[in-house]
Amino acid sequence: MRVLITAGPTYEPLDPVRFIGNHSTGKMGYALAEAFATAGAEVTLVSGPTNLTDPAHLGIKTLRVETADQMYAAAAAVAPAADVWVFAAAVADYKPREVAPNKIKKAGDTLTLELVKNVDIAATLGRTKRAEQFSVGFALETNNEEVNAREKLARKKFDLIVLNSLRDPGAGFRHDTNKVTLLEADGQMTIFELKPKAVVAQDIVRTILARLPHHA
Ligand code: CTP
Repeated sequence: MRVLITAGPTYEPLDPVRFIGNHSTGKMGYALAEAFATAGAEVTLVSGPTNLTDPAHLGIKTLRVETADQMYAAAAAVAPAADVWVFAAAVADYKPREVAPNKIKKAGDTLTLELVKNVDIAATLGRTKRAEQFSVGFALETNNEEVNAREKLARKKFDLIVLNSLRDPGAGFRHDTNKVTLLEADGQMTIFELKPKAVVAQDIVRTILARLPHHA
């Protein structure tokens, strides 16, 4: 079984020394890579900039990228041959329209940046998904959690979406624990307790494997 995982943040450069980014640590995506590799899968981990070291497991190939465009290019090259896609990355929704070739100098009292939409990696690859491929997304929501997550599941052609609510203490960014709810395309919903991210990853991988025809 081949698995593609995106993980971590993306950094969108403004000039040679600055970028727009976010607080994603990559921990959930890396934990999923370990859990899939332990289950015998061949994993390609496409990782944005993180402080984590490349997983040592021989079943995991780590590809390092910075921007959403680079993450898309790396993922698109791997996706057609992968049985499972897991989009755990916190991709920047927008990037600066222009990257200044030299360091932007301090000038007026305000500075306006123009941003343009980034490629939606999950949605774009979703349009190429074959019937036997299984796609998993993440949703980090603050309100109307289930409705928003179900809308993303449909729009991005996910078979399963992992919902993190920012209302749950200990869940999401900057924690070693996570509390997730799994929503599936057939309407199933599974609510898990707050657990260490490595254990959450095992729960998610076990659920995905149970949905794959050759593992049933
Ligand atoms: N995703 C992606 N590429 C993007 C943005 C998101 O692959 N450019 C993936 C994420 O990895 C995640 C899922 O899509 O699996 C949901 O991302 P999210 O940012 O919550 O969705 P958005 O469509 O950007 O919705 P929102 O308006 O809530 O930001």
